Amino acid sequence: MKVIVLDNYQQISIKAAQIVASQIILKEDSILGLATGGTPVGMYSELVKMYKLGIIDFKKIKTFNLDEYVGLSKENQQSYYYYMMDNLFKHVNINIENIDIPNGMADIKEECVRYENEIKQSGGIDLQVLGIGHNGHIGFNEPDIKFESVTHLVKLDEDTIKANSRFFDSVDEVPKQALSMGIKTIMHSKKIVLIASGKEKAKAIYGTVKGNITPNLPASILQLHNDVYIIADKEAASLL
Ligand code: GLP
Repeated sequence: MKVIVLDNYQQISIKAAQIVASQIILKEDSILGLATGGTPVGMYSELVKMYKLGIIDFKKIKTFNLDEYVGLSKENQQSYYYYMMDNLFKHVNINIENIDIPNGMADIKEECVRYENEIKQSGGIDLQVLGIGHNGHIGFNEPDIKFESVTHLVKLDEDTIKANSRFFDSVDEVPKQALSMGIKTIMHSKKIVLIASGKEKAKAIYGTVKGNITPNLPASILQLHNDVYIIADKEAASLL
């Protein structure tokens, strides 16, 4: 685990974007695993800048996203599909057919099997980007998850519903369920970069880097992966 602590949000966004860009440059048909939430917004904006400067090309890139809310369509502004279009895809030359995000409107069982198979058939994720929840969740793998889980249906924790309500008009509008890659799916990625910003992530980052490996703090499993970057700003790293 390589831990990189930088001064502020802008610096972690640039650093994470550089790691993604380097992956794209080294392998033009890379399979990227992407994340949503507030934290990666800056990283996506840096990637768009690099694309516009001609530094990176998304023509042959394929992407999978970590998760999606159950019951939200692609058109819904709170869906992660919409988020990805808005923050990255519509600004770069990615082929829309190369984008895969769990479909929160599909038959849940079939969708989980389809998604996991698609990832396998693609040859596996070269680089997975992660954020982290206050409770140490990655994707939507909430505390007490089974480490051997693959793409599955998740019941969101009250804590997560509250944290994510800032993107909705009210807490009642936050879906109670989501589809998420499992811990096993994430751990199969060849390389992982986790970004964290702000003091409300400090406990989770401490547990991820220095805590016991435990399903109570799902991100702690990353200690067992052999190619992980944790990129945190000073506040998120303040307990290390
Ligand atoms: C959501 C997402 C996670 C993300 C987390 C933290 O629950 N499913 O993938 O890492 O929120 O989000 P934020 O970056 O907004 O704090």
